[in-house]
Amino acid sequence: MPTRALASIAAAFVSLVSLVAAAEPAAAPAPPPADPSKAEGRFKNIQVLKGYPADDVVPSMQFISASLGVDCDFCHVERAPEKDDKKEKGTARKMMAMTQAINKENFDNPHEVTCVSCHRGAPKPAVIPAIDTGERPHSEPAAAKTAELPAASAVLDKYLQALGGADALSKIASRTQKGKLTGFGPEPVPVDVASKAGLKRLTTVHNPHGENITAVNEHGGWLGNTGRPPRDMTSAESDGAHLDAALLYPSDVKKLFKEFEVKSVDTIDGRKATKLVAKNEDKPPAELWFDEQSGLLVRMMRYVDTPLGTNPTQVDIGDYRDADGVKVPFRWTVARPSGHFTIQIDDSRQNVPVDDASFEKPAAPPPPSPPPS
Ligand code: HEC
Ligand code: HEC
Repeated sequence: MPTRALASIAAAFVSLVSLVAAAEPAAAPAPPPADPSKAEGRFKNIQVLKGYPADDVVPSMQFISASLGVDCDFCHVERAPEKDDKKEKGTARKMMAMTQAINKENFDNPHEVTCVSCHRGAPKPAVIPAIDTGERPHSEPAAAKTAELPAASAVLDKYLQALGGADALSKIASRTQKGKLTGFGPEPVPVDVASKAGLKRLTTVHNPHGENITAVNEHGGWLGNTGRPPRDMTSAESDGAHLDAALLYPSDVKKLFKEFEVKSVDTIDGRKATKLVAKNEDKPPAELWFDEQSGLLVRMMRYVDTPLGTNPTQVDIGDYRDADGVKVPFRWTVARPSGHFTIQIDDSRQNVPVDDASFEKPAAPPPPSPPPS
């Protein structure tokens, strides 16, 4: 074929030129600079996740670990995740490609089948159905029919009323709280939470070995650990933290999402709660449950999409107490597939001065505290 012949002549010419070029010193073309926003640009040995945002790599790994019920070291040698020393890492690469192929060949949705569909929290999927020993949970009673469900705006209005009303809520500009966090270790540890209306929140956990900071402001969020430089949250992490911070000052709750839809009435801790699905464009929806009687928000589920599947976070909210004409939650539990923790507040003050600068990422890590002499 003439075109092919032309092409091979052209190829020969190109290789001749490059040979000549190679003979000349200092003419070797520099490789294009790696794009650090891409997985393969920031990490050393990416084969399957090529082309995805670099920020998606670690959430994908959290998804894999949760799906198989394993820790990172199941596939990785310590401190060198780029190494291919463990055969499980190779198997995981094959499984990622297999799962992509299953979805492509059989479904319209790239996440119809994910690692968790087969693995369900175990490295080896079950191949034989389980025996009914009488302990298997029975299916939930059918959800109420759509006709019996309240309108989303009525549920949100009731929530604002239950909290003291939008007017009273809008008069609360800041809050400082002290309490205990349970779930990070064997003993509860002290925690401080400072927040301000306008998406500012700073949580400082005082662990025995140092401080652990989760902070968010109107631009984004950051995480700090004593002795390590603070790191910026990924955009998905700061979306979640922004939602948490916004719900602390909920007078504008209706503006947080473009669309709310009432889905069902479920049972949470033995009480009926109305479930709303809250949507914004290009983001996974959040789910909010409001106690049918009190009207208060009792649970929120938020989701982070990864190239392999979706990571869930559940926040349970309770122990609402009266303060300055509004109701303030004194307890919340954050649960993920990797574990959970509970913050119980015992001292809460409102409208106290809080410096805006405290929500901004510090330039250098705080110096490690000197060892007791
Ligand atoms: C079941 C196996 C498996 C588990 C568990 C796992 N990973 Fe991975 N990890 C992989 C595979 C496979 C790759 C390579 C992906 C690719 O080629 O695109 C990878 C790549 C990585 C990379 C990129 C390394 C580089 O420089 O190329 C990081 C970072 C990483 N994993 C972190 C983690 C963390 C953190 C955890 C625990 C939360 C974890 N992984 C759990 C299989 C696993
Ligand atoms: C269609 C079902 C299916 C899906 C989807 C699936 N797997 Fe698997 N996976 C299996 C089966 C079956 C085995 C066991 C193979 C064996 O025993 O040799 C396995 C084994 C593995 C192993 C080796 C475990 C060990 O003990 O050595 C890893 C690692 C793994 N899968 C990772 C993944 C990851 C990561 C995903 C998602 C990207 C995934 N799998 C999706 C069916 C699946």
